Formats: sequence, C-alpha cells, structure tokens
Amino acid sequence: MPDNLIIQGPEKGVLLITLNRPQALNALNTELLGELSAVLDAAEFDTEIRTVVLTGSERAFAAGADINEMAARDLVGILEDPRVAHWQRIARFPKPIIAAINGFALGGGCELAMHADILIAGENARFGQPEINLGIMPGAGGTQRLTRAVGTALAMQMALTGEQISAQRALQAGLISEICPTELTVERAIQIAETIASKAPLAVRLTKEAVHKASDTDLATGLRFERHAFTVLSGTADRAEGLKAFQEKRKPKFTGC
Ligand code: HXC
Repeated sequence: MPDNLIIQGPEKGVLLITLNRPQALNALNTELLGELSAVLDAAEFDTEIRTVVLTGSERAFAAGADINEMAARDLVGILEDPRVAHWQRIARFPKPIIAAINGFALGGGCELAMHADILIAGENARFGQPEINLGIMPGAGGTQRLTRAVGTALAMQMALTGEQISAQRALQAGLISEICPTELTVERAIQIAETIASKAPLAVRLTKEAVHKASDTDLATGLRFERHAFTVLSGTADRAEGLKAFQEKRKPKFTGC
C-alpha cells in the first residue's frame, strides 16, 4: 500500500487517487511520485479501470516539488533525478485522468495537474509556477504545457513573476474546463470520469491520443493520426455495437473489443 496516496475503487470504472502528504501540502517527493507512477502502471492493464480521478486535499492539490528534497540535490543529483522517469510514466498513461483541484496547485503541483486530460477546480483553487522565487524554473513541463494551455502572454507572466492565478482566471484562460463549489469538486470529477468510463474504451483511448496530438504535432500530422485512428476503430466490435444500438434505440453495451 502506498504511504503518500489514498487509493479508492475502481468503482463504475473509476479509480480515485488522493495525494496524501498533508504535513507538506502534498509536496511531491520522490516517494510520492514513485507511488503515483506505479499505481498508474498497474491501472494501465487493469480492465476494470477505465478512468482515473486525481485529487489532493481542500487546502492543497500539491504545493510543488518537495523543496527540502530538492535542496539536498546538487547538479549531478538533478541530472540523475529518478523523478524524471516517474513524470514520464505519468505522462504516458493512456487512459483519461481527470484532475479535481482544490487549494494550491503550485510549481510541480500545477505541472502534475497539467498531466491530466481534464482539469476541474474548486472555487478556492490557486494555480502558479513560483519556481522563479526560488532561483529556479519549472522542470516538469510548466513552460511548455502551461504555454500551450493559456498562451504565451499569461504563461510568461506566471512563470516570470511567480504570481498565482485564481480558478476564475484559470477558467477564462483555458487551463481548466469547469469551476465547482470546493466541496463538490471531487464528486463532479467522479461524475465526469464515470461518463467517460461508460464509453467504448478503445475509442476513448484513441480520442485522448488524438486530442493530445493537436498540441504535440503540426496540423497535417495530427489530421493524419486522427484519420488512422478513426479507421482503426472501424474494425472494433464496440463500433458495430454503438451504431446498432443507435438504430435499435437502446443503450450500447461496450466490451472494449
Ligand atoms: C516542501 C512544503 C512545500 C514544498 C509547503 N510545504 N510547500 N514543503 N515542499 N513545496 C510545507 C511548509 O514548509 C509547511 O511545513 C507546511 O507545508 C505548510 O505550509 P505553510 O507555508 O505553513 O502554509 P501557508 O502559509 O498556507 O502557505 C502555503 C504556500 C507555501 C503558499 C503553498 O507553503 C509555499 O509557498 N510553498 C512553496 C510553494 C512553491 O514554491 N512551490 C514550487 C516548488 S519548486 P512546516 O513543517 O513548516 O509546517 C517546484 C519545481 C518543480 O515545484 C520541478 C519539477 C521537476
């Protein structure tokens, strides 16, 4: 059992992962990131798990990389940092992750939230890349994913000033897709996750990959990927079932084949 995570489910296809280092506002140390990537590795091949909800506490989603741990690493330590592999494994996870963000999502915490496919936040959420205040800079995608999400102007301002933005501003900028009352954020994320979990798994997987291609590649490459993925799905039993169920005016029963 992981020490820094609470794992619940899967229930109705949804695995709920809660970051649980309250004494450090869920600061991401190597152990926590290792546990998270290991849980996701196992979830990848568990057919009972269709989607993941990732959350923290009402006070903090995560207040960044663990600064005490970081302070103990010199240049060689950073070069050989095992956390890089954990981040890569989290980024590779093929099923949808919905982040339910309350409180602080700062530095690595904001970067972790941006590893999710759908971000929803409570009214009290605060997003920021405060690394500049520590004489460093974002190192787990903050300069790249934030810029793709909110555009150069706001990303530059956040990364260079270290100032936080509110949930409202994050919504307006396109970083998150919804704001909820803080106490309902997790419930709403689970609702979204259950909806996705009820769809055809292969279609979900390829849709996630295709949408990410929009920011990873040029338009022609993305369109080619989309067309290939669309064609691949034409060979699935779930496609036949989805179309037939529509014609027969009933709910489809998807099997993941
Ligand atoms: C280690 C942390 C921490 C962190 C908070 N704590 N953030 N410990 N690493 N990132 C600890 C505090 O030391 C304190 O422990 C306890 O959590 C509560 O925090 P307080 O500061 O007392 O709470 P508050 O006054 O409410 O302020 C909240 C806060 C502040 C604004 C979030 O804690 C803060 O500024 N934290 C650092 C945020 C940050 O700079 N993040 C970026 C890190 S660098 P004690 O023991 O004193 O009670 C980064 C690089 C990513 O993320 C690179 C990825 C490769």
